[in-house]
Amino acid sequence: MATRTFIFWLMATLLPAVHGLRIEASQDFPLGSEVENIALRPSGSVLATVYTFPHIYEVAPRSNSTPKLLHTFANTTGACGITASSTPDVFFVVTGNFSFQTFSPAPGSYAIHRLSFTKCGRPVVEQLAALGTIAQPNGIISVPGTPYVLIADSLGGFIYQFDTKTLQLTTYFDHPLLKPTRSDIRFGVNGVKLSRGFLYFSSTNQQIVARIKATGAEAVLAGSPEIVATSTPVDDFIVNDLNGDVYVAESEPNNGIGFVSENAYGSVPVTIAGGPNTTVLMGPTAAIWAKGAVGKTLLVSTTGGFEQFFTGNYTGGGTVSVVHLD
Ligand SMILES: *[C@@H]1O[C@H](CO)[C@@H](O)[C@H](O)[C@H]1NC(C)=O
Ligand SMILES: *[C@@H]1O[C@H](CO)[C@@H](O)[C@H](O)[C@H]1NC(C)=O
Ligand SMILES: *[C@@H]1O[C@H](CO)[C@@H](O)[C@H](O)[C@H]1NC(C)=O
Ligand SMILES: *[C@@H]1O[C@H](CO)[C@@H](O)[C@H](O)[C@H]1NC(C)=O
Repeated sequence: MATRTFIFWLMATLLPAVHGLRIEASQDFPLGSEVENIALRPSGSVLATVYTFPHIYEVAPRSNSTPKLLHTFANTTGACGITASSTPDVFFVVTGNFSFQTFSPAPGSYAIHRLSFTKCGRPVVEQLAALGTIAQPNGIISVPGTPYVLIADSLGGFIYQFDTKTLQLTTYFDHPLLKPTRSDIRFGVNGVKLSRGFLYFSSTNQQIVARIKATGAEAVLAGSPEIVATSTPVDDFIVNDLNGDVYVAESEPNNGIGFVSENAYGSVPVTIAGGPNTTVLMGPTAAIWAKGAVGKTLLVSTTGGFEQFFTGNYTGGGTVSVVHLD
């Protein structure tokens, strides 16, 4: 095989989806809205939290759909983590005051809420508890079939377990890989997911995704995590429950989706959508699967570019984008 043909063949083999990926973006969220996290309703529509305003939006996963303001929280400046509970169409949402000027949280400002819907579709939000002892709640995930929610603490570098029935909050996992390691922008553990008998987590300053055997229901988790992805400007991520492949929402400078297949754990993610020098996915913050489309269709929240929230010079609205992998 001639070298050029070989290289072309190699790239086509290694990166089968790069050129074919179709991406559909919602309409922009209002300028100044930092779209932080997303969850899926049983209907397939998407709930999206905004961290720079205390807002939750609902948006259909398709091209040019309009984000619809669903709820405004009182007594807080933003909404961050959101996860579906074990009960259909009931969600847990964390709120709190975070400054994008200083990249720091207001201690004692965080709380967790339950969001459900009445028969006629009206959202009902009820505060469950203040999360005063958690320095900076970030990613959250429900533990299937239990009342537990795992909550990542980006600043403290812990994963907490919150019992939504007894309202008890305990330290679930403590490990050096969860800790912030920079002194300016301090972000340790960020996203948390349960998949295939493992707890997967991302750690932003350490630029990794890792996993450790876990059910999420243990009182305390112990052991040594295995590195899944390295050298990645990771925010949140999602696992393909069917085969262990991991898709990483990569912030600046990558502005794209990084991919690590199950047989390449420990490597640097391959960019499969967006990427440096592209603007199609500016500031990805989270990724989930579209309804009934594990391994096929990603839903990705983007901020429209992180820098604007620091400078206050707003340059473009965030989106919920649909990334077709097949
Ligand atoms: C958080 O923000 C809300 C709304 O501005 C404010 O009322 C509250 O005092 C703040 N809490 C803290 C702990 O800063
Ligand atoms: C405001 O939020 C804080 C932190 O979650 C909580 O402790 C406090 O009770 C809230 N105040 C009101 C009036 O809801
Ligand atoms: C992005 O653009 C810079 C400046 O033009 C260039 O040096 C770099 O190689 C580009 N990166 C990619 C991944 O194309
Ligand atoms: C705001 O951002 C735009 C686009 O990047 C840039 O052209 C402009 O100079 C910026 N303005 C300020 C005041 O920084």
